[in-house]
Amino acid sequence: MPSPLHQDIDRIVYSETQIDARVRELGAQITADHASAVAAGQPLVLVCILRGSIMFMADLARAIDLPLEMDFMSVSSYGDEAKSSGNIRIRSDLSSRIKGCHVILVEDILDTGLTLASLRKELGARDPASIEIATLLRKDVSREIPVDCKYVGFECPDEFIVGYGLDYAQRYRNLPDICVLKPEIYT
Ligand code: IMP
Ligand code: MG
Repeated sequence: MPSPLHQDIDRIVYSETQIDARVRELGAQITADHASAVAAGQPLVLVCILRGSIMFMADLARAIDLPLEMDFMSVSSYGDEAKSSGNIRIRSDLSSRIKGCHVILVEDILDTGLTLASLRKELGARDPASIEIATLLRKDVSREIPVDCKYVGFECPDEFIVGYGLDYAQRYRNLPDICVLKPEIYT
């Protein structure tokens, strides 16, 4: 019998082992891309978009072999529903200024693109040296707003994904794998 944590899961899309390997690759890529800027004294800042990105942020930060800062931001998007509410609002802002910093927005999943498009615009206006996006997952959908993500962990199907930080109604974030939720749970 599946454990209470796993009983609502339809299937695993990416396993803990696959995630670990891919996050290390992304970390190596970010290290290579930012080594010279950091050596020149320009700070590298990872911005965790709460709460879905916590696992990815924690692992990605440890896979980057450079001094860096970690900051956190909370925006509202989906509420407790499986559908986009269509707008975002900053609930909790960064603790530090990002002027002159190389910023990487760390996000769990790119779906409609609304969250990341708005955030990039908002933070881009604060005069960072550069701003890039690292998203763990990119959903296979046609997007109204195209969003350029330099670092993408995995492409994923257009189904409801939970685990490794991603939730449905605040649950399932502690699943170690990236999973598809049984549709009957959210429909
Ligand atoms: P977007 O603004 O539509 O790109 O939505 C991004 C946000 O919606 C993500 O940060 C997630 O919090 C949430 N989201 C979108 N799709 C999923 C999913 O399949 N599972 C869990 N959360 C999702
Ligand atoms: Mg999120």
